[in-house]
Amino acid sequence: MTKQLHDIFKGFSKLSREERLAALKDVGVLHDSDVDYLAKGGLKDTSLGEKFIENVIGYFQIPLGVATNFRIDGKDYVIPMAVEETSIVAAASKTAKWIRESGSITTEVIGLEIIGQIQCAKVKDFADFERKLLAQKTYMIEISNREVAFGLVRRGGGVRDIQVRRVPRGDGTDMAVVHVLMDPCDAMGANIMNQVCEFLKEPIEQFTGEKVTMCILSNLVDSKLTRATVHIEQMDQDLAEKIEEASLFAQQDPYRAATNNKGVLNGIDPILVATGNDWRAVEAGVHAYASRDGQYRSITKWKRDGKGGLLGVLEAPIIVGTVGGVTTLHPTAMMCMKMLGTTSANDLSRVIASVGLVQNLGALKALTTVGIIEGHMKLHTKNLALGAGAEEKEIPLVQKKLEEILAIRKRISLSNAIDVLKELRSTKTPQSSTHSHH
Ligand code: HMG
Repeated sequence: MTKQLHDIFKGFSKLSREERLAALKDVGVLHDSDVDYLAKGGLKDTSLGEKFIENVIGYFQIPLGVATNFRIDGKDYVIPMAVEETSIVAAASKTAKWIRESGSITTEVIGLEIIGQIQCAKVKDFADFERKLLAQKTYMIEISNREVAFGLVRRGGGVRDIQVRRVPRGDGTDMAVVHVLMDPCDAMGANIMNQVCEFLKEPIEQFTGEKVTMCILSNLVDSKLTRATVHIEQMDQDLAEKIEEASLFAQQDPYRAATNNKGVLNGIDPILVATGNDWRAVEAGVHAYASRDGQYRSITKWKRDGKGGLLGVLEAPIIVGTVGGVTTLHPTAMMCMKMLGTTSANDLSRVIASVGLVQNLGALKALTTVGIIEGHMKLHTKNLALGAGAEEKEIPLVQKKLEEILAIRKRISLSNAIDVLKELRSTKTPQSSTHSHH
């Protein structure tokens, strides 16, 4: 019988990097060429970078890890995460393991259309503008689809609606804002939407006699939301209540909501980076959606289910693409997409929402029990040992000592690591010393 993805999850974090790569190859998530590519340090060819941005001088590299144990809508995933922060991948994997054993992750995408905006800043007569524009709505949808979005139409998408909004200028007058609603299929849609909006400038001016002042897509896509739900069937109700209280804190207090959502984005951004998606767009959309009722709130909610379990929901615009952009040009992004096995933009969005929600649960569990320092520091001891100047062979000894100090004092710092290293070196006889003195 061939190995399944879930067969490699148990104890994955305790493997060496080579063993991890071999395990991923064993289940067909990576191929020989991927392993070879990663072993050689990934993307080297700077001429590709020149195609993405300007004034290129090289690449900035951040670690690429994989979160394990995720089962989303009944399907197993290995999640690529490109991120620099300690404990994110570990917390996601650990929490996903808990859910895999005691619950489920389910998702849905609500709505299809992204939004483009066309502004008429100083509209002379709003009512007249609205009437004239709406009279031509069907025609404008038709020409947009025929002249610009024909590729999307072929794939079942395209422009679906045109709406008019009245936005106060703050001086008693209004501006008119036209919204274009378009199904971008598997593209993120920014380019095509901007093209549609710019294309509509002329007809709008012609039909209404008003001046169009700018055209651009909106990142607040409340017309297309991704929802992930985590259900833990049975758990300690004291802990469930603590998580519920932490969630209420993040709902009601913007100071806490910001940090809570940062924790959610700890799960979201690394996948966006790994798959070559525009994380600034998603960040902007998530934060704007979090403030939709006038107060910045958590984008996740946790509640006891009344039957001994816990229910968590994340709902946010997570607009991503699986075609176009860097996703299909950057070899590492392409490899990560293959690893994920998601073929549609909606599926990718569902996975990202799930990891954000799971990441949030992991952080809340730590915060309401042992505190964040313990797990963070447990993984951070290696950085501290390195920072103190420990050499390869000294690192495990310094780490062990730091863990002991952490268990007793509940905190450790670089100065602890320096002291530990000093002590370690002073207790060694000169013959057995493996390090060179600086
Ligand atoms: P632990 O119980 O000591 O871990 O937790 P363990 O060694 O017993 O291992 C259990 C499982 O955890 C492993 O299973 C892995 O899945 C995972 P296995 O692979 O053995 O079958 N795991 C790891 N995976 C990869 N590499 C590792 C590793 N270690 C464990 N080295 C842990 C340790 C850090 C996971 C735990 O303490 C934890 O979840 N802490 C929370 C950490 C966290 O949330 N970090 C996010 C950054 S903090 C932040 O910026 C956000 C925040 O402000 C957000 C907010 O306020 O809401 C907090």
